[in-house]
Amino acid sequence: MASYLEILDDDQGHELSLFCVPKHYEEDLDSVIIPNGLIKDRTERLARDIVRDMGGHHIVALCVLKGGYKFFADLMDYIKALNQNSDKSVPLTVDFIRLKSYSNDQSTNCVKVIGGDELSALAGKDIVETGRTMETLLSLLNECNPKMVKVASLLVKRTPRSSGYRPDYIGFEVPDKFLVGYALDYNEYFRDLSHICILSDRAKEKYKV
Ligand code: IMP
Ligand code: MG
Repeated sequence: MASYLEILDDDQGHELSLFCVPKHYEEDLDSVIIPNGLIKDRTERLARDIVRDMGGHHIVALCVLKGGYKFFADLMDYIKALNQNSDKSVPLTVDFIRLKSYSNDQSTNCVKVIGGDELSALAGKDIVETGRTMETLLSLLNECNPKMVKVASLLVKRTPRSSGYRPDYIGFEVPDKFLVGYALDYNEYFRDLSHICILSDRAKEKYKV
């Protein structure tokens, strides 16, 4: 079982005014739940765990866009740093795939897949809620008969809607709230926010499509 940093249900997060948040989002967020620095510190450790487990195998790292791009970029940087500062190293190539399943704060039953030519190995993802998106991608990846597929997700949501799916590497387990920032969006807004924040109910109305 993957270990993770648990953010408790009654954790109200940190007051917005203690952090730097874009002016245009100040009215839309309840609090900062995971500051950017903590995301990076946890990602650094995930990189170490992944390199240890890969034991010198070539990694094809697959970024699940758009929400996974910040986590993916930081995770790759930490793996690169390990590679260039130790006597052992793992060859690394990257690929990108785009998945879309969300409208407003609800999962739609349809998962759209766009792109990706070499579908194998390590997939880096933003958040697992019900697990449906990841299960769809995994069945696709398995059609390519990869030697091994491992999934790293920065966040896993504690929710009764979960299918029971758990990624191989987990950054944080988070409460059942809608989170934005660090590339996670609400109808394409909030990707330009460094910290992971709790979206306010008012903002859900304001940016509804
Ligand atoms: P699942 O298929 O229910 O596991 O949903 C996973 C996908 O839904 C993620 O890749 C996100 O795109 C989106 N999602 C789920 N929860 C959140 C959230 O709290 N904030 C932003 N996006 C979310
Ligand atoms: Mg989204």
